Amino acid sequence: MDNLDLPQKILISVKKAGLKTLPSVLCLSKPDLERATGLSPREVNILVQVISEAAYQTPVTTVLNIKREKCNASMIVQKLSLGCPHLDAFLQGGILSQGITEIAGESASGKTQLCIQLCLTVQCPKSMGGLEGGAVYICTEDAFPSKRLNQMIQMFNHKVGSEMASKLKLGDHIYVEHISESDQLWHCITKRIPILLSRGLIKLVVIDSIAAIFRCEYDSNEVAQRAKHIQSVGAKLNWLSLQHDVPVVCVNQVTANMKRSSNVFEPSVLPALGLTWANFVKVRLMISRTNYRLNVDMQSDSENRRPELNPTESVVRCMEVIFSPHLPNNKCYFVVEKTGVVGLT
Ligand SMILES: Nc1ncnc2c1ncn2[C@@H]1O[C@H](COP(=O)(O)OP(=O)(O)O)[C@@H](O)[C@H]1O
Ligand SMILES: [Mg+2]
Repeated sequence: MDNLDLPQKILISVKKAGLKTLPSVLCLSKPDLERATGLSPREVNILVQVISEAAYQTPVTTVLNIKREKCNASMIVQKLSLGCPHLDAFLQGGILSQGITEIAGESASGKTQLCIQLCLTVQCPKSMGGLEGGAVYICTEDAFPSKRLNQMIQMFNHKVGSEMASKLKLGDHIYVEHISESDQLWHCITKRIPILLSRGLIKLVVIDSIAAIFRCEYDSNEVAQRAKHIQSVGAKLNWLSLQHDVPVVCVNQVTANMKRSSNVFEPSVLPALGLTWANFVKVRLMISRTNYRLNVDMQSDSENRRPELNPTESVVRCMEVIFSPHLPNNKCYFVVEKTGVVGLT
């Protein structure tokens, strides 16, 4: 109080009134200050102005500056590679390490294949697009496809070479959880996953799928409770991702778009769980099977893959950015092969 640039008379009156701190003055209205200090309205105005200026020390700044400061404080968002240069280029480097990335799509569109591939790439060194950690894979519907994982690990090991393969030990760092109820999921994301994250054992959380938990467990009269549970899970997953700087990937199913009019540009399917869940999703990717097949000759030429109509070969799948803070609403194409998910140029 003594350091303030106030006339002596005002300073003495304020002290006499027992107002020793800035908040104690600012908490009172002007008439109350007049009564407490015996100062005139003009003097109270001066008092309030000087104290307000002293209390407000944060300089005016822009949103851009706040963002820059955050980035300088090593808050730069990392990206997790999908294990394919074409898909990485499409996503401008890969999956964001901060926030929830949703992979939505109909059955057999390739959601699980993408997630398994992420569980492998996350373990790679940062120079290879990984995050140098393991993954938690939460299965809520089908059993974890361990056979397919082993096949993809073999192929991945072949690609990276035996020295790197023995260093990575890919199969040892994927923690699989089978969960079918929202209570179990809540326990897992509030108790078990935080322990693995704080020990630095995992750098990726996959939930395959988030929709299954909230689809079957609730009756139609429990809509509000369901929404509350979705919000709690979404907020917790977001918090875990931001706190530990790890990507959270959630698979979502799709439902038929009942409100679709004759407009052909409206999507025929929509991601399940609706707006309550969508509010927590940072990047939404929709994948689907197309009517195109990849020609055998094209498959052998990995440098020059283009979708061609041929009903007997590998299905060409489409990945579309539905919303994202950093990507345009674009599409790319990929196939699922023995080696995993491969993007097409
Ligand atoms: N070993 C494999 N080789 C080639 N394609 C495979 C292999 N395993 C699965 N696929 C393809 O992946 C599709 C299933 O993808 P998946 O990710 O399980 O679908 P979902 O979207 O339902 O999770 C299958 O229809 C098949 O075309
Ligand atoms: Mg699946």
